[in-house]
Amino acid sequence: MLWLAMDAKLLAVEPAGDRLRLRWADGRATERHVVWLRDGCTCDACVDGFSSQRHLNTADIPDDLAVRSAKVEHGDLAIVWDPDGHESRYAPQALAPRELPNGRSNLWGADLRARVPRASFTEVSRDDRALARWLGDLRDLGVTVLGDTPNADGQVERVAELYGYVHEGNDGRHFEVVSSSKPTNFAYTPKTLALHTDRPFVDPVPGVQLLHCLAQSAEGGENMLVDGFNVAEKLRRADAPAFATLARIRATFRNRYDQVDLMARHPVIQLGHDGRVDAVHINDRAMRPVEAEGADVPAFYRAYRTFFALVRDPANQITVKLRPGDVLVFDNRRVLHGRAGYDASTSHRHLQGCYTDWCYVESKLRMLAVEIGDWSNGR
Ligand SMILES: [Fe+2]
Ligand SMILES: [Zn+2]
Repeated sequence: MLWLAMDAKLLAVEPAGDRLRLRWADGRATERHVVWLRDGCTCDACVDGFSSQRHLNTADIPDDLAVRSAKVEHGDLAIVWDPDGHESRYAPQALAPRELPNGRSNLWGADLRARVPRASFTEVSRDDRALARWLGDLRDLGVTVLGDTPNADGQVERVAELYGYVHEGNDGRHFEVVSSSKPTNFAYTPKTLALHTDRPFVDPVPGVQLLHCLAQSAEGGENMLVDGFNVAEKLRRADAPAFATLARIRATFRNRYDQVDLMARHPVIQLGHDGRVDAVHINDRAMRPVEAEGADVPAFYRAYRTFFALVRDPANQITVKLRPGDVLVFDNRRVLHGRAGYDASTSHRHLQGCYTDWCYVESKLRMLAVEIGDWSNGR
C-alpha cells in the first residue's frame, strides 16, 4: 500500500539544522524544513476551519523564522515559533512520508487483455467501496468497463455524475457514435478507426472518456486500446532521439465543420516538469502537416513513424467488445482507442459518449477515502 499516513505513529522530534527530524514507530526517520512546517500550520489564525481557505500568506512567513520549541504531545507535533510565539499543531497524518500518486507503475500491453477491470453500475451506485475500487482502477490503469448500465438515452451522463460533471463541448453534453448518412466525423461511419485520442484540437484535452454501448454489431465493432504511456516509455528506451523529437515539436490538430474551426498544438508525447509522460496526443483524422523548420520536419515524420509502429504492435494492444449495458471508461490523455469496422447494412451499432475531467475523479477518491476509512485508493 502506498498510503502510510493513517496508521503512522510519531515518537519523537529533534532539531536538524534548518529542519526537524521526525522519528516514527516503524523505525523510520524523516525530515521536514521548518519553513515548510510553518507554511503548513492549520491553526484558526492560519486556515479558516469552515472553508479550508488560508488566511496565511506564504510570502509573509518571516525570513528569521526559527523553532523556539518542538515536542510530540498526545501523538501530535507541537511547535512554538520564533520570533512571534505563534503555536502550531500537526496530526501525524499530515507529516508522514507518502508517495505521490503515480499511475505509471501500472503500464500495460496485451497482457491486460484477460484482466481489464470490470465493475457493475448497480453496485457502484449503492456501495461507496465499489465506487472507490472502480475509480481507483480507472486512475491506476486508465481503463475500466462498467457493466449492467441501464439501456437508456443519455444514461452515459448519469455514469459521469457518479463522480463528477460532464465536460460539455461543441459536440454537446454527449455525442452519438452511430453510422450516419452525412458523417461529420469518421467515427460516425462503420469504417475501421485507427488508434487515437479524442479532441486534441481543443485545449485542455478532455481527461476521461465514457462510451456507453446501447447496441453492438454482431460482427466487428470491437474497440482496440493501447496504453499510450507504455508505448511512449518503450519509445524512450528504444529510440531516445525520436522520443525527444515528439516531446519537443508540437503537432497541429484541427477540426473544422459547420459552426467551429478548432485548432490546438500539442506535442505527441507531452512531458511534465519532471520529465515523465503526462499525456499522449494522437489523431490521424485531425492532424495537419507539422509546423516546423529545417531538419525538424523530417525528424518529426521519422519519429512519428517509429512511434506508430509501437502503437500498432499487437503486443501493446488489447481488444474489448462492448455488450449493450457496458460503459468503456478510459483516460483520454493516456489510452488510445480505435474501432474495428463493421457492416452497417446487416447490423446496428450505437454508442453514446461523453467526457469528464480528472480532477473530479481524484476529488471523489479523496472524499471516499475519508468516508469509508480506506486510504488504499485515496492518495
Ligand atoms: Fe474517439
Ligand atoms: Zn497558525
